[in-house]
Amino acid sequence: MSDQASGSYGLSEVELQREVIAPELAWLPLRPDTRRHGIGVIGCGGIAGEQLKAYRQAGYRVVALCDLDESRAQSLRDRYYPEAFVTTDHRVLLGREDVTVVDLATHPAERVALIEASIGAGKHILSQKPFVLDLDLGARLCDEADAAGLRLAVNQNGRWAPHYSYLLAATRAGIFGEIQSINFTQHWDHTWTVGTPFEAIRHLILFDYGIHWFDLAAQFFAGRRALRVSALVTRSIAQVARPPFLAQATIEFDGGLATLNFNANVRYGQEDRTFVAGGQGSGVSYGPSLSDQTVELYGEDGVARPVLSGTWFHEGFVGAMGELLGAIEQGRQPSNGARDNLRSLALCFAALASADAGRPVVPGEVRASSAIG
Ligand SMILES: NC(=O)c1ccc[n+]([C@@H]2O[C@H](COP(=O)([O-])OP(=O)(O)OC[C@H]3O[C@@H](n4cnc5c(N)ncnc54)[C@H](O)[C@@H]3O)[C@@H](O)[C@H]2O)c1
Repeated sequence: MSDQASGSYGLSEVELQREVIAPELAWLPLRPDTRRHGIGVIGCGGIAGEQLKAYRQAGYRVVALCDLDESRAQSLRDRYYPEAFVTTDHRVLLGREDVTVVDLATHPAERVALIEASIGAGKHILSQKPFVLDLDLGARLCDEADAAGLRLAVNQNGRWAPHYSYLLAATRAGIFGEIQSINFTQHWDHTWTVGTPFEAIRHLILFDYGIHWFDLAAQFFAGRRALRVSALVTRSIAQVARPPFLAQATIEFDGGLATLNFNANVRYGQEDRTFVAGGQGSGVSYGPSLSDQTVELYGEDGVARPVLSGTWFHEGFVGAMGELLGAIEQGRQPSNGARDNLRSLALCFAALASADAGRPVVPGEVRASSAIG
């Protein structure tokens, strides 16, 4: 009997779902041979502290720290790696033989020269996100790294945050079938950016923050063509920060849709939710923050509730660096390679252009970010 004939119109009664055992999936960060790699960090600002905390717990060997402001590098050295060498000159750090991998934790504009210098010095690189402000420049940097036989990866730590890592592993294992849609909805408070350099980024939410979710959308829809991106940003009536804190983006993939919904001005009852709908199952993740998420998988057999532990920063940073180190050891491209990241950036740049122009934009059509200015 059809739904209409049965009188349900697709509105099924809420049923008690049978609990099933969650699938064992390889969602934890790789464990590289940490003794083989010496990490040098250039840029010891806000995020570098979180990275170093995670690296130390993972046993990664950080041997040198560099910041234009020496006191920043010294303070991180004293806190996390007391044996590390400190300098204010990136050329000195790059000249050291014990540095085999460089972690670039500066902002994107000043990172370009640092990436080029690191390649020139024969070092593998982990770049903070957003990788670059221009797709053609990014492709050129990837070519230069390839030509030098070096790995250039991007610190898209979101892919290793436990809830996304598990949902991505489930997607890759085919547990949901073909992906139809993914919806990211976030209500959080980004007011900490007031008075910081981040406030100067016009598209702060869709670009500097949103790149994580454009990247995740590209991962969930790996191998599928992105056709169009539409986006909208507006200032909230209640916000104090300069850049618009309300933002939406919709990405049309071949046979699928991804939506990003952001309100960055929510102080109470914050919620972060992701829904992945496949042809044969669904995955949902929800919680008050990126580091406090409950994951559920729904399918014909019932519901599975994997027990995951970890946080956005810790597993994220251990995972992003671990993947690069593992790729160096195994002589392969890292899954967070910069060339792959250009696809995520193309989605993001299309969204920024769409928000500016008020029309859908084809990814790749817009080559540069309009985030700043
Ligand atoms: N992955 C994440 O979750 C995440 C979170 C926050 C920030 N970020 C990204 O990390 C990057 C840095 O952000 P931040 O908040 O740490 O910025 P920040 O301004 O606090 O730190 C940047 C540091 O780089 C130093 N610096 C700049 N040029 C340098 C040079 N040539 N040599 C040595 N040091 C130099 C500055 O002195 C400063 O201390 C940004 O791209 C940001 O988007 C990523």
